[in-house]
Amino acid sequence: CGIVGYVGPGSSVDVLLGGLKRLEYRGYDSAGVAVIDDAGRLETRKRAGKLNVLAEDLAASALHDGHTGIGHTRWATHGGPTDENAHPHLGDDGKLALIHNGIIENFSELKQEVLDAGGVFTSETDTEVAALLVGAAFRECGDLTEALRRVVARLEGAFTLLVLHQDVPGVVVGARRNSPLVIGLGDGENFLGSDVAAFVEHTRYALEIGQDQIVTIRPDSVEVIDFAGVPVTPNAFEVAWDASAAEKGGWPSFMKKEISEEPEAVAKTLLGRSHDGAVTLPELDSLHDVLGEINRVVVIACGTAAYAGMLGKYAIEAWARIPVDVELSHEFRYRDPVLDGRTLVVSVSQSGETMDTLMAVKYAAQHGARTLSICNTQGSTIPRESDAVLYTHAGPEVAVASTKAFVAQVTALYLLGLHLAQRRGTLDGAHVAAQLTELQNLPDKLDQVVESASSRIAELAHWMSDTQSVLFLGRHVGYPVALEGALKLKELAYIHAEGFAAGELKHGPIALIEPGQIVFVIVPSPRDPSSLHPKVVSNIQEIRARGARVIAIAEIGDVAVVPFADEVIRIPFAAPLFEPLLAVVPLHIFGMELAMAKGLDVDQPRNLAKSVTVE
Ligand code: G6P
Repeated sequence: CGIVGYVGPGSSVDVLLGGLKRLEYRGYDSAGVAVIDDAGRLETRKRAGKLNVLAEDLAASALHDGHTGIGHTRWATHGGPTDENAHPHLGDDGKLALIHNGIIENFSELKQEVLDAGGVFTSETDTEVAALLVGAAFRECGDLTEALRRVVARLEGAFTLLVLHQDVPGVVVGARRNSPLVIGLGDGENFLGSDVAAFVEHTRYALEIGQDQIVTIRPDSVEVIDFAGVPVTPNAFEVAWDASAAEKGGWPSFMKKEISEEPEAVAKTLLGRSHDGAVTLPELDSLHDVLGEINRVVVIACGTAAYAGMLGKYAIEAWARIPVDVELSHEFRYRDPVLDGRTLVVSVSQSGETMDTLMAVKYAAQHGARTLSICNTQGSTIPRESDAVLYTHAGPEVAVASTKAFVAQVTALYLLGLHLAQRRGTLDGAHVAAQLTELQNLPDKLDQVVESASSRIAELAHWMSDTQSVLFLGRHVGYPVALEGALKLKELAYIHAEGFAAGELKHGPIALIEPGQIVFVIVPSPRDPSSLHPKVVSNIQEIRARGARVIAIAEIGDVAVVPFADEVIRIPFAAPLFEPLLAVVPLHIFGMELAMAKGLDVDQPRNLAKSVTVE
């Protein structure tokens, strides 16, 4: 869910809707706002559906606006996406409003307690119980910060809560446990947001709020305490990008814009991180001794980030000769993994907030492993919970399905692989320099792919708009690309899609092939002497013989593939480990174009959220 809070001279409704618009990628099945109007009354409006349903409702009949407000855009957990279940929820006889991101795990017990005391619920959410409890606590103590503090002490689970009360205009109080919240510092106004996108339009100055802390904002002050009531000094930071970076800037969708930014995402992630043919990552200084001693790397991530992790495995093992396991965060965390001080756990997360990954990082640290975060979002939680962070500099990614963050994550993992190889002496200077040159050549080549492949893929996608199933095959580094291509198609176009290791085909999946089945095949370059090109061409022949329609992603000049493919999408030459960064782009474009051909919303696919802050 996305959360925004505001106190200051501006129009609350405008600030809240502007912030929610930028946070909508975090959830979009309902939205709502609560403001204290100038007459000191609490006004709320909430609607099922995307934010524009709420915005249109407010345009048709305005709220009495004021200068204190909270807003929420929801990704449903408890209770379906209805007007009633939308946030804010009310307490203290409608005088208090509360919004929530996360899950209150002990809500049933608490709800029973409130029911026994005569409380009345109007929704099926776990949130409403918090609103009623904070309302009751405020009646007792008359202080909103203290009321929230008393209630959070009783809550189990993960939450960010924001609350306001009409008896204390000019005050918004927030609390966080394992769920994101940052403070935006304005001039005579202050903000709270799930991430900096909520307020970057107004200020780039921000404060981090730690776990289990409570913040009280007023127009001229910000006070942070921990759950025990002890004052805390939060860390300040400045947002590295401005609001325009999170705007569509004339593009028809964020997804199209972000795919076009894939070259830049790689370039910016490389920027300033090499010198004289060597990798320089001062961010890893705090791990310097550890990196010489580790005997194992475990990459943990979810979704697209996990596929980036798989590519990292090939590179780190090849260059630094350290065994690398890649595991989905939610599986890793619950299977009693073997960890010790010689294990480096590398989390990969665009948002830095994915709850599954955050919990896995904490688990790893508690069990003695050292932790490194590869992350795209400053001020987010996972970097703060890690021993070190290597930021990807893809810029804000707004479309829910990840594209430019993926290539930036792979780039960062490759830099890490080279850094480890230097540190451990497994690659000599010339080899490191050669790999760096390959990385540095990628942005230009990516530009070529975006330019040359887009229109042909759009045609293919339109031609395939009623396709029911698409398969993706790749070997070696082409395998994670196949998985990523399939995930994009599921996420964006709601088409059944699967990615397979091409060698595994004959062990089962080939039974799926029937005449007309569309299969994308990632074909490695034939130039490398140890290339798997001949094996992949054999796999193509096997599926062709069974009637598959083959779309090959192959290097410019690879003529050997032509007789066997129905269609060939060309990518420039790159050394084997670098091919996947090029081959993935046509698949990103394909997912987007097929979704567009079906008339779907490519930025906000159904049922998904960009940043999943519940387990
Ligand atoms: C969600 C998104 C995916 C994303 C995954 C991991 O499921 O819909 O697009 O790959 O989370 O997100 P992260 O922010 O941790 O990279």
